[in-house]
Amino acid sequence: MSATAPEQVAHRAGANTFRHVVFSQGQIATRVAEMGAGISDHYPASEPLLVLGLLKGSFIFMADLVRTIHRPLHLDFLVASSYGKATVSSGRVNLLYDPDTSFEGKHLLIVEDIIDSGNTLKQLLPDLRRRGAKSVEVCALLHKRLVALEPEARWVGFDCPDEFVVGYGLDHAEDFRHLPFIGSL
Ligand code: IMP
Ligand code: MG
Repeated sequence: MSATAPEQVAHRAGANTFRHVVFSQGQIATRVAEMGAGISDHYPASEPLLVLGLLKGSFIFMADLVRTIHRPLHLDFLVASSYGKATVSSGRVNLLYDPDTSFEGKHLLIVEDIIDSGNTLKQLLPDLRRRGAKSVEVCALLHKRLVALEPEARWVGFDCPDEFVVGYGLDHAEDFRHLPFIGSL
């Protein structure tokens, strides 16, 4: 009896199997480092920077990104209500966790895994902007370019095909988040 290779198991969950790799581990690492360098250069070193990751999807991206930002920063997370098991966005986005720390006088950098309908950020950003931050910018790993944000995300890793993508933090009904690359179902 032949054992199933570990990578084949990892790429399959229930009825879902990977169709193809969209962004490889190497491509992601290179691009994340470029974004980290850009972010390091953008903010005056003496001004406080608070990096806020939107959970859960951004957890791997956030962890890799902050390690390529070479300047002082604090980090925290936001938890917004999610799609649940659906693959299509619907309705109101609520914050389920919001940091205690004040935003007053700080540069806020919101780290998002993917901009799809743009609903999440369109709803959250106006609230975040009202809280006295010195600036509020978005760094998204992926952007499907189905919508334009106003203002647009300052840092975008990759323009993403309009497919449901998983891996590197992105899930489908909680499957596939742990994969080190991004693939399409
Ligand atoms: P929005 O449609 O821009 O509001 O996207 C909100 C959230 O939905 C993202 O932060 C992701 O967590 C999730 N999402 C959107 N598109 C995809 C996808 O293609 N794969 C996995 N998650 C997605
Ligand atoms: Mg998600």
